[in-house]
Amino acid sequence: MRIFSGIRPSGKLHLGNYLGAIKNWIELQNKPDIELAVFGVVDYHGITTPFDPKTYHQQVMDAVIDYLAAGVDPKKALLIRQSKVPQHMELAWIFSTITPVGWLDRLPTYKEKQNQVESSGNEKADSWKNNLGILSYPALMAADILIYKSNLVPIGDDQKAHLDLTNEIGKKFNYLFGETFEPVKAFKSEGERIKSLQDPTKKMSKTPSTSSGQAGDSYIALMDSPDIIRDKIKKATTDSGKEIKFDEKEKPGISNLLTIYSLLAGSIKGQILSIKEVEDKYGGKSYIEFKNDLAEVVVDFLKPFQERYKEFAGDMAQVDKILTESEERARQIAQETLSDVKQKMGL
Ligand code: AMP
Ligand code: TRP
Repeated sequence: MRIFSGIRPSGKLHLGNYLGAIKNWIELQNKPDIELAVFGVVDYHGITTPFDPKTYHQQVMDAVIDYLAAGVDPKKALLIRQSKVPQHMELAWIFSTITPVGWLDRLPTYKEKQNQVESSGNEKADSWKNNLGILSYPALMAADILIYKSNLVPIGDDQKAHLDLTNEIGKKFNYLFGETFEPVKAFKSEGERIKSLQDPTKKMSKTPSTSSGQAGDSYIALMDSPDIIRDKIKKATTDSGKEIKFDEKEKPGISNLLTIYSLLAGSIKGQILSIKEVEDKYGGKSYIEFKNDLAEVVVDFLKPFQERYKEFAGDMAQVDKILTESEERARQIAQETLSDVKQKMGL
């Protein structure tokens, strides 16, 4: 099995990113049948929406440290910055020549990214308006995955359509130029859709989920301090009624908090704590008691992450060394695929 996954360096990681994506990366890198695992900070994806060139480098390095602190182990996986492995881009161009625009402009993320450009608040946002990259980046994502001949991709469910597209592109390449790419599967988990604390019908994300709500209150960043975490959970939207019961339709707020509780409390003890067990534990108790305990579960869970983050941030020489070695190896592996592809195409 070969794995690739990536996250845009678009700000601090939050619990949704952790539970929907990175937690699985860590589990997968430890499996014995994994031949190759590559995790990328996809910095060429990040420039398709407005960004600040003065802070972008730091943002990319923050993401690298986030991954290391979350448990990406350079002995088991390669940790790369996409822009340092140019083979991704070369394959993306090739893929763009066999990807009909109709496969891209119907993706829901195309509209979402257009809106993101408009609502970015960046003073030069107009310059990014409807750029070609926000239409074509799924072809780059397909290249990110297939350049390593990956067949398993840990992602949240919002990325599922992109993976279907990756398979379509791989199949078309095989049809035109000969058998090269195998089908790719998504690896998904229970945390695949963590909801916003302010509006539990929307996913937890870095952008505000309600027009009145503040973006910061809708997500828990992995680096939030204990007091901020307690405050955000206290303010999280709950539902009418008093019962602590999982019911996504009638009680989306409490259901989301139960999911977070069960996933985090379980992983602190290194075991699985089912939602049913959490419900039983809080039978007859109030929302306030449940939320207070949940806040402590989140604080305890994030403490070791935050300590490791500080350690890595204080030893950038080690971080640079990890990147240099990983990126060198990644270029070698990626070049094998690219040479094969170019040869098959007569390039
Ligand atoms: P993004 O921050 O949107 O670039 O997402 C990075 C990764 O985290 C992707 O694999 C997403 O599917 C995943 N992800 C983002 N938000 C959530 C969420 N609220 N719940 C679960 N997974 C998420
Ligand atoms: N498109 C993904 C996102 O917006 C990020 C991404 C880029 C990715 N390349 C990837 C995810 C390859 C998985 C595999 O979240």
